[in-house]
Amino acid sequence: MKNKFPILISEEQIKKRVAELGKKISSDYVNKLDKPLVVIGVLKGSFVFLADLVRSLEVSCEIEFIEVSSYGAGTSSSGRVKLKREPSLHLADRHVLIVEDIIDTGHTFEFLEDYFVGKHLASFRTCAFLDKPSRRQVEMKVDYSGFEIDDHFVVGYGLDLDGRYREISSVVIYQQS
Ligand code: IMP
Ligand code: MG
Repeated sequence: MKNKFPILISEEQIKKRVAELGKKISSDYVNKLDKPLVVIGVLKGSFVFLADLVRSLEVSCEIEFIEVSSYGAGTSSSGRVKLKREPSLHLADRHVLIVEDIIDTGHTFEFLEDYFVGKHLASFRTCAFLDKPSRRQVEMKVDYSGFEIDDHFVVGYGLDLDGRYREISSVVIYQQS
C-alpha cells in the first residue's frame, strides 16, 4: 500500500480540474500563437501536474524547466529561494507560462517573477496546481489555479516531504505517525 494518508483531492477530482484548466489556458493562448508558447515547470514538484497539463492543452507548446529550492528539510519554507537550474531555451519573444506545484508563502513566485523581468518575454503568466492563500506573506497574482486548500501540509501528485511521497497519485494530507 503506497498511501497511508487521508486523501484531500482524489485522482478523479484532479483529472476533471486539469481538463478544465487545459481548456481555459488553450482558449486564452489560441489567438496569440504568432509567438511560441513555452510552458516552464518549476522542479521538482511540478513534474506530475506539468505532464498532465500539457497533455490537456489544445494548443502546442515547448516545455522547459527551472529548478529552485526554498524548503530545506521539513514542512515550513525557509523564505530564502535559491536558483538551482536555469532554463536553457532562449525565452525572448516567447509567451511564458510558469507551472508550480503549490503557492504557499509566495516567496518562490516572487523570486520567479523577478527572474523573468528583463528577459523580453512576449508575455508572462503563472499557473499553480494548488494554492494556500491563508499562508501568503507576499502579495502576488496567480493567473490559473487548480485548487485552493486550507493550511495543511500536503504530499502526492508531485509534492514531497524531504523528497518522499511524490509518486502518490492523489493529494493527501501528511500526518506524522
Ligand atoms: P512558497 O515559496 O512558500 O510559496 O513555497 C513554495 C514551495 O514550497 C512549493 O513549490 C513547494 O515545493 C513547497 N511547499 C509549500 N507547501 C507545501 C506542501 O503543503 N507540501 C509540499 N510542498 C509544499
Ligand atoms: Mg516546489
